[in-house]
Amino acid sequence: MWHLLYPMRTFLIVSGQENEINVMAVDWLTYLSTKPPIIGVSIHPAHYTHGLIKKYKEFVISVPTINMLRDVLIAGRKSGSEKLKKMSVTFIPSKKVKTPSIKEAAANIECRVVEEKSYGNYTFFAAEIVNFIQNEEAFKNNQPDVKLGFMAHLAPGTNKFVVFDEEIYEIPTREL
Ligand SMILES: Cc1cc2nc3c(=O)[nH]c(=O)nc-3n(C[C@H](O)[C@H](O)[C@H](O)COP(=O)(O)O)c2cc1C
Repeated sequence: MWHLLYPMRTFLIVSGQENEINVMAVDWLTYLSTKPPIIGVSIHPAHYTHGLIKKYKEFVISVPTINMLRDVLIAGRKSGSEKLKKMSVTFIPSKKVKTPSIKEAAANIECRVVEEKSYGNYTFFAAEIVNFIQNEEAFKNNQPDVKLGFMAHLAPGTNKFVVFDEEIYEIPTREL
């Protein structure tokens, strides 16, 4: 059943601080509110990331592009910060949180946890966006440039991804 809402965009979650940093992949992430800006992400308690988010109450969402596929899969298939040795991401300081951002990502969104709740076997973390940095090339006029290869996971449990067609379909609202 879980494949029914796919393809889903995939993001990286950076958690932890100083010598306790980790990165994992997530599909289950959504906006919850615009004022204040709040997002939510569902994370399984078995993941190392889960403990780091509970401990530091903050994380960074890094937006990968398809040229980061290998790193996304290492982040999403290996557990614990040992995986960082296999990954080729560069950590850079974030502005409002101590958890670092990823230089190679198209954007980094700094979040502070405002609430957490268990739903079944997952924990849903709601977090306020306190700052973001974006690669200006990737987001001209507040619109992602799909040529950069924003990635979507084809189906859960697979290592398959798709990128977006460059054709844009649009009907102006006044014509509806
Ligand atoms: C593309 C992709 C998407 C994933 N999405 C989620 C997700 O939304 N929530 C979750 O808890 N795990 C998700 N996972 C699984 C975790 O990323 C994976 O178990 C990871 O190894 C956890 O790392 P950690 O234990 O170092 O925190 C996903 C994995 C992949 C490959």
